[in-house]
Amino acid sequence: MSGPRVRQPRDPAAPLEGARITLCVGGGIAAYKAAQVARLLDKAGAIVDVAMTKRAQKFVGPMTFQALTRRPVFTDLFSLTDEANIGHIQLADTADLVIVAPATANIIARLAAGAADDAVSSVILATKAPVLLAPSMNVNMWSHPLTQANVRRLVDVAGYKTVGPGTGFLACQWNGPGRLAEPTDIVEAAAHYLSVQDLAGVKLVVSAGPTYEAIDPVRFVGNRSSGKMGVALAAAARRRGADVRLILGPSAIPPPLGVTTTSVESAAQMQWALADATKDADVVVMTAAIADYRPAHAADQKIKRGEIGQTMTVELVANPDLLAELGKARGDATRPLLVGFAAETNDVIENARKKLASKRCDLVVANDVGEPGSGFAVDTNHVTLVDRTGAVDVPAGPKSVVAHRILDRVVALRSGR
Ligand code: CTP
Repeated sequence: MSGPRVRQPRDPAAPLEGARITLCVGGGIAAYKAAQVARLLDKAGAIVDVAMTKRAQKFVGPMTFQALTRRPVFTDLFSLTDEANIGHIQLADTADLVIVAPATANIIARLAAGAADDAVSSVILATKAPVLLAPSMNVNMWSHPLTQANVRRLVDVAGYKTVGPGTGFLACQWNGPGRLAEPTDIVEAAAHYLSVQDLAGVKLVVSAGPTYEAIDPVRFVGNRSSGKMGVALAAAARRRGADVRLILGPSAIPPPLGVTTTSVESAAQMQWALADATKDADVVVMTAAIADYRPAHAADQKIKRGEIGQTMTVELVANPDLLAELGKARGDATRPLLVGFAAETNDVIENARKKLASKRCDLVVANDVGEPGSGFAVDTNHVTLVDRTGAVDVPAGPKSVVAHRILDRVVALRSGR
């Protein structure tokens, strides 16, 4: 007899790879978005089993999910073939995680009452796996005290997790909370609950992006940093349970869900935001490409163009080195753990070692920004981790994966390894 699956925390860089997910689809208009959730889970390497309520099948056909997951769909608790082929206990036992999307007011009420009267509720009541609810319903149904009490009961008594609902314009023409969380956010929540939580409760500050130093109200001195590496680090730390504050310079990259973000423009603004954020931080990761110089005098009004051939001089003054200031302020204390980046084009390791010492940090992530597929504005990176014990090369890869390998080192340094 096969018992329930033993659930282990997974590599946070790919927690869905090979994970068994049971996706329970409720009968609401957002059921069509559950197809996208199934698609994204499958793309991330999960083995997805779908169970649907009768009402869900009125909105989307089981065939859609069968085609997306390449697996039979469980629709009827009382069907001899469904129970024989799939079986609600098997779906409950094999799951690493159960996702309910959309979790309608009706499903939530039935689950809160401990009901097990159809394919979906019987899988959920029987499972020992974590259950993630993605509520979706009319705004008044959501705010109804009974629905709120039911959700609280599921969270407090049964330990269920929730993602969303989002706020916006709903299919019922109301505007407000009740919208199914974005499929990408549901999948990220799933990744979070499957991942090892080795940064749980850790207060981690990430600075990211470039800074813009004003010449006049419309012009600035800046650099080519996109913010991708820093945003990837913030998302990765959040997935591992950290309480993340992101201080983000001008960047087109959207900040990750669940991260407290402060948007800044100049090095001076970044300095103020950092002073506040780092007060009680456990870890500070300085990914930001902070401008080393700013115009000495920013004009109040737009500077007018001159004659052809006329020259113009912008006098620059050096900005403070924010990481070095943090290192100095920390002195001999061990908190916060300080991580710097070193963007180099030559003598990468040697220069990174110098920065490790001069900025008094614990780890320097050395980056050859001249190497193709590495550094600014690309989705991949190739870095070397330099600390007092030596230098370790991280295989080139997507910034989302490299971020986790950097955090692995942060976790190790925090535990004195
Ligand atoms: N940094 C900082 N304040 C600055 C400039 C850089 O805190 N004014 C931080 C960056 O966030 C990064 C580290 O210092 O973590 C190294 O940045 P980098 O640009 O590689 O080095 P610099 O110190 O600016 O030195 P150089 O440009 O001469 O290599």
